[in-house]
Amino acid sequence: MNDEPHLIITIDGPGASGKSSVARRIAQALGVPYVSSGLLYRGAAYQVLRYGVDPEDEEAIVRLLNEHPIRLEPDTDGNHVFAGGEDLTPHLHTARVDRVVSAVARHPRVRAYVNERLREVPPPFVVEGRDMGTAVFPRAPYKFYLTASPEVRARRRARERPEDAAEIEKMLRLRDERDAKQSKPAADAQIIDTSELTLDQVVGAIMRYLPGGLGAKDK
Ligand code: DC
Repeated sequence: MNDEPHLIITIDGPGASGKSSVARRIAQALGVPYVSSGLLYRGAAYQVLRYGVDPEDEEAIVRLLNEHPIRLEPDTDGNHVFAGGEDLTPHLHTARVDRVVSAVARHPRVRAYVNERLREVPPPFVVEGRDMGTAVFPRAPYKFYLTASPEVRARRRARERPEDAAEIEKMLRLRDERDAKQSKPAADAQIIDTSELTLDQVVGAIMRYLPGGLGAKDK
C-alpha cells in the first residue's frame, strides 16, 4: 500500500458535482499532481467501444485491458490516458463514452484493474472519483465528498456538452443510479454541498480543512 504516511487527498462525489475542477485547483494550490480515476474508467470504456467488446462481458473487458493496457499520466493541470503510444484523452469526455462507462465500471475486475493503476501513482497527490476515500485509499488523511442537486449538476454539465440540459439531467440521474454502489461518502469524509457555492468557495472550504504549509513540506 502506498497510502500512508504520504499525503493523499481524496475528493469523491457524483458526476458533475465539480470534483474535477476542485481537485485540480487544490492540487495546483499545493503544487502536487491531480489524479482523475474517472478518466481511467473512461479510457476502459473507450477501448470497449473501439474494439466492439460487450460492456456487460467482464471477462472480455479484462482480456482487452490486458492485451491493450491503458495508463494514466497525471500532472497538476490535467490527466492523460494512453493506450500504447496513443493519447485517448480527447475522445473520453463524449456522450458516447458517458453512455457505457457505468456499465464498464460496474465490474469488480475492471475496478481492480483501475485501482491497481491508481495505487502505482507515487504520493503526494489529490485524487478524485467515487470511491477514492472508501475503497482505494481508505487511510488517506484528508477526505472530502462533494454533492450538488441533480439540476445544478445538469446545468454544469450542459456547459461542457452539446446536448440539451433535460437530456443531460436524465443521463446524470441514470448514471447516479448505476454508480450508487461505489459512490457512498467515507465515514471520515468532510461532506460539502456545492449547489450554492462557486468554485472559489468550494476550494476555500477545502483549504480550510488542510493544515497550512501542506504540500510544500510533503513534496
Ligand atoms: O467522474 P467521471 O464522470 O469522469 O467518471 C466517469 C465514470 O466512471 C462514472 O460514470 C463512474 C465511474 N467511476 C467510478 O465508478 N469510480 C470512480 N472512482 C470514478 C469514476
